Amino acid sequence: MAEGVNRREFLVRAGWIVAGVLAAESGVAMVASMSPKIQPGSFGARLNIGSVDEIRAIPVGAVVPFAEQRFFLSHVESGYLALYRRCTHLGCVVPWLPDEASEDGLAQRGRFNCPCHGSVFDRYGVVHAGPAPRPLDIFPILVEGKDVIVDTGAIVQRSSFSDSQAKKV
Ligand code: FES
Repeated sequence: MAEGVNRREFLVRAGWIVAGVLAAESGVAMVASMSPKIQPGSFGARLNIGSVDEIRAIPVGAVVPFAEQRFFLSHVESGYLALYRRCTHLGCVVPWLPDEASEDGLAQRGRFNCPCHGSVFDRYGVVHAGPAPRPLDIFPILVEGKDVIVDTGAIVQRSSFSDSQAKKV
């Protein structure tokens, strides 16, 4: 009899231990799912995009894609713009089309065409056609020592282009 009670107690305790382990595991999984998944160098982080010398080598009028980081670096007369590739209409990915007629005076070719509803943006991210309500959003560009940083965690909306938006490096 005493042996039966002990066995019962053992089974009850074992059940509580198993329940405790499962609860702890699910708690760990829940905390892990709540923590940011941003990896160094990925979208949403502060990204080192190159040295000041490397960025200065990009000519005025050039648009350089940073596909994984979801922006284009556009060199305009007043500096550099990090243009978020997300269309300001309904959020489609906007590709850079280097062979299309330009909508700005910096070069004869190149513009952004949204494939969803036809919005057209120039090198400044300014809208020239279609339903997009404002220019492409931008990310802050910082110079830290000899490095150029783009903060893809800080989206900046704008209603037009001004020279102060472009960063000199
Ligand atoms: S999502 Fe780009 S024009 Fe509609």
